[in-house]
Amino acid sequence: MLLRLRDRSSPAPSEITPEALYRGRRQWLAQAGLLALGGAALASAPLRRSEAQAMRLAGVTPNPRHVLASDEKLNKVEDFRSYCNFYEFGMDKSDPPVHAKAMKVRPWTVTIEGEVNKPQTIDVDALHRMAPLEERVYRLRCVEAWSMVIPWVGFPLSELIRRVEPRGNAKYVEFVTLADPKVMPGLRYRSLEWPYVEGLRMDEAMHPLTLLVLGAYGETLAPQNGAPVRVMSPWKYGFKSGKSIVKIRFVESQPKTAWHKAAPGEYGFYSNVNPDVDHPRWSQKTERRIGEFSRRKTLLFNGYGEQVAHLYAGMDLRKFF
Ligand code: MTE
Repeated sequence: MLLRLRDRSSPAPSEITPEALYRGRRQWLAQAGLLALGGAALASAPLRRSEAQAMRLAGVTPNPRHVLASDEKLNKVEDFRSYCNFYEFGMDKSDPPVHAKAMKVRPWTVTIEGEVNKPQTIDVDALHRMAPLEERVYRLRCVEAWSMVIPWVGFPLSELIRRVEPRGNAKYVEFVTLADPKVMPGLRYRSLEWPYVEGLRMDEAMHPLTLLVLGAYGETLAPQNGAPVRVMSPWKYGFKSGKSIVKIRFVESQPKTAWHKAAPGEYGFYSNVNPDVDHPRWSQKTERRIGEFSRRKTLLFNGYGEQVAHLYAGMDLRKFF
């Protein structure tokens, strides 16, 4: 089933979609049988009746093993678009919504290179057509101990990876994001080494929970949220989710990632959400869900342990934090 996204670069009735409107559209999509939510290896919030109906219409059976905790309420789209980390556009959470408007997200290409049989440069519009888009509700948990629940839209990164045929010595995937001093005022500050680079081990990148994200809340991504394409592994801290990707490289050795280079004792390569491994300057045991007053207990692997714990069997998660 195809989920079509409204392109945010085309004129919109308002900058921000009121939640009620968004929910209305979502319900309409579901009733029309267009919302492909669920699927064999798909993590989703509990299904509302209309979504369950849509899944039956689409011939998709929800796999109860992958249904998440039952009280997950989506964050307001306004929270997602106004409380952001995108250091290329400034250090404050409110900087990216202001400054990222200057970033041109079309035309945009993603170059795929390194240890692959089929290196290529793909236009982002071709990415939209490459695989059926799915909506998946995942928690975004950030290292500073805040979280949101977002309906991401994209497709499993594994679909793209299979297409480019990685060679046997491709052990990691590196994501390089845009660094354009003309539109990114944050590049003047050496807070991080630019471009912002992130990475995943090959099995993490191939895991069905890892999404190549092209949208959220039924629309293409807003610039401050990493338009036109970002990556998302929901069991990891948010900084692993590189925004506005321009290059994907398949490499033999562990990529040198931006935050790890800046503070190796504070930010590890794996960065799996782990309440038992504190950040040296703060506890990771609890988190503040944006929009809520009281704090919640943080869950190991952000609550996705059943799906991903096997990837780290035998590894000391304190050492490989
Ligand atoms: N990607 C780039 N290119 N630059 C950044 O500064 N910040 C990361 C990540 N991706 C960042 C980035 C951090 S620290 C977090 S928590 C998430 O994006 C935040 O995503 P959001 O602002 O869409 O919620």
